[in-house]
Amino acid sequence: MDLVKVTCTDGIAWMEIHRPKAMNALTQAVLTELEVEIASLAADLADLRVVVLTGAGEKAFVAGADIREMATMTPAEAAAFSALGHRVLGALEALPVPVIAAVNGFALGGGCELALACDLVYAAENARFGQPEVKLGLIPGFGGTQRLARRIGPMRALDLVVTGRMVGAAEARSLGLCLDVFPADELKSRVQTIAEGIAAMGPVAVRAAKATQARGLDGPLATGNALERDAFALLFATSDAREGMAAFTEKRDPVFQGR
Ligand code: HXC
Repeated sequence: MDLVKVTCTDGIAWMEIHRPKAMNALTQAVLTELEVEIASLAADLADLRVVVLTGAGEKAFVAGADIREMATMTPAEAAAFSALGHRVLGALEALPVPVIAAVNGFALGGGCELALACDLVYAAENARFGQPEVKLGLIPGFGGTQRLARRIGPMRALDLVVTGRMVGAAEARSLGLCLDVFPADELKSRVQTIAEGIAAMGPVAVRAAKATQARGLDGPLATGNALERDAFALLFATSDAREGMAAFTEKRDPVFQGR
């Protein structure tokens, strides 16, 4: 169990895909270990505020599914592999706290899809995103034909999927694939600062914001607004909301308890 390394400090969990010699490519073993680590975070949520996902080394976030492992798969094995990826990325996306991708190099194929399953994406200047599966005679299989279009729009998404072209960090930002770009040697500290900022907000509110947006996007606006109204109202039953509003009127910093 050393393909995914997790360290958690002050409610911020860093998960690092650790297979640097193969550009952190996703084997079934990596995905299975990632699933175990996500489940263990999900089982102990009380103090968790933010999760950050990154790749080991300086070259790659994740350069895709492991092509050597895929090369001998039967259609049934490929279906199981795709389903495993869907399940693991779904579990990552379903974590109740914001999940940030710190993209420290290549994010190709399954690596780009992994970033798409994260709520917020930040990239190093050397990051390169792409869905190059068509070069292999394949299509994305970990949600790339679905989440990419939802994140950047169908035309931009299909352009990336059918050309297989890689985009650098600046173009990735302009496409909406990442929020911001930092010098490679600053990526971790800049993302840590962003995570600390989120961790300092009302924890119940942060979770409610993520859940309400995600649930609302699946349905019509009126349903989303109804979900929002209920979640907004429920927050008035938390001591955090009382504390947050009291702190504003008393001109002091709030002290949130997470309840
Ligand atoms: C297996 C990989 C790999 C991958 C890199 N490596 N990507 N191994 N699967 N996806 C390995 C290389 O074989 C090599 O190992 C080592 O990592 C370093 O890579 P190099 O190619 O030597 O480095 P470089 O020349 O810098 O090129 C980097 C690269 C290139 C541009 C990222 O490696 C590349 O194009 N990789 C494949 C990217 C890709 O097609 N991804 C999509 C996969 S399909 P050795 O042992 O030779 O040193 C996919 C589908 C998802 O993701 C859905 C599945 C259901």
